[in-house]
Amino acid sequence: MVSADKLKERNQRLEEEDKTYIWHPFTQMKDWIEEQPLIIEKGKGCYLIDIYGNRYLDGVSSIWVNIHGHRRPEIDRAISDQLKKISHSTLLGLSSTPAIRLGRKLVEIAPKGLKKVFYSDNGSTAVEIGLKIALQYWQQKGEKFKGKTKFISFTNAYHGDTLGSVSVGGIDLFHQIFEPLLFPTFKAEYPYCYRCSQGKGYPLCDLACLEQAREMIKAHHEEIAALIIEPLVQGAAGMIVSPPDFLRRLREICTENNILMIADEVATGFGRTGKMFACEHEGVSPDIMAVAKGITGGYLPLAATLTTDEIYQGFLGEYREKKTFFHGHSYTGNSLSCAAALASLEIFVKEKVLEKLADKIVFLTERLKKFNQLSRVGEVRQKGFMVGIELVRDKVTRQEYEFEEKIGIRVTGEARKRGLIIRPLGNVIVLMPPLSISLRELGEVVDITYESIKSITEQ
Ligand SMILES: Cc1ncc(COP(=O)(O)O)c(C=O)c1O
Repeated sequence: MVSADKLKERNQRLEEEDKTYIWHPFTQMKDWIEEQPLIIEKGKGCYLIDIYGNRYLDGVSSIWVNIHGHRRPEIDRAISDQLKKISHSTLLGLSSTPAIRLGRKLVEIAPKGLKKVFYSDNGSTAVEIGLKIALQYWQQKGEKFKGKTKFISFTNAYHGDTLGSVSVGGIDLFHQIFEPLLFPTFKAEYPYCYRCSQGKGYPLCDLACLEQAREMIKAHHEEIAALIIEPLVQGAAGMIVSPPDFLRRLREICTENNILMIADEVATGFGRTGKMFACEHEGVSPDIMAVAKGITGGYLPLAATLTTDEIYQGFLGEYREKKTFFHGHSYTGNSLSCAAALASLEIFVKEKVLEKLADKIVFLTERLKKFNQLSRVGEVRQKGFMVGIELVRDKVTRQEYEFEEKIGIRVTGEARKRGLIIRPLGNVIVLMPPLSISLRELGEVVDITYESIKSITEQ
């Protein structure tokens, strides 16, 4: 038994050493070092437990990754069983049992036509790989297609933090400063209907954004290798949900104009929108699909880029032809990660996770209605278990809070005091709990969020 004094000393040392050694991602460290860091030591189900033993609901699934809760015995066991065999061996020139098994499963559950799995270890690299495969595919397809070296991406898009994925991003706050390092893309407008650039909103607009994208693609298809999109929900932009049919019609435009469609399902994949993949809502099969985050149930880093057989065939040839895809990371297809992913996918089947989720989504939709009564809530957006609550200074004019007001940070700070961990995206409060959350816990997530918004914005 460790004495209370020893524990206190240990905890204080951890807090000091965090500030001495760690540079946290997406964090203003000047603010961080002025506050007491919250250090997580354990997890159980939908709760995170800090070094003092305080429990917090994990309202954003540890940055959108956790699916079945923390310490799931089946996933714990799968990892420790794999650990007894081997933790990692390379996929460069070798294969591994869990990577093969998982590859098969991924193809089985993926949208129709995706047949090959290229592994990596995070969402950004899965996207980079998709972009590189698309480009190389056209370069090898024949003289006629050599001009297809550009991409079409969307305003407000987020595809990760590596330079290729930043190039196809569209969030100025994160991306603009790196402009000198980025490759140019064609930028189409993503339908952010609450702040419609036409001043109309759906359905009055008649999907004007789509027509604009169509014109852009028609005019430049000979230069465009692929279009990249976050299907149905732009996550990091603030959970912006596209209007019905937008994705399906975009798919048709891509096909008509002979450009590939890359679906970035890094955030939306593995049940988050209510179906295994967001593309399924509109019966869309992309040519390339990037997945990561929830793939291992939120346990270990793993990502995959899936492609059609046609794309894969385009890389086959004599060695001397140099059609090989010269890309690969050290931890590509890590065995522990693949074992975790297999166990996670088994839970989906065994526990009918998606069927059960349907009721929870209805419950969530119902409980979110009351947010519209709050004077500073402009819009509540939801697709499945992805929720964005946009706070505004003025509900009528939709005037935004100023960046300096840190309204999102203040609300989520308040939620933390009440036992809920959530993280904002600017002025948007995000909820994205694990799919395994109980109705009671989900109700608590919603209630704490409501009270926190009220207390901060209606003072
Ligand atoms: C749609 C999308 N793509 C890519 C990424 C990048 O994933 P990672 O953080 O694993 O690199 C994210 C991360 O939030 C994402 O939301």
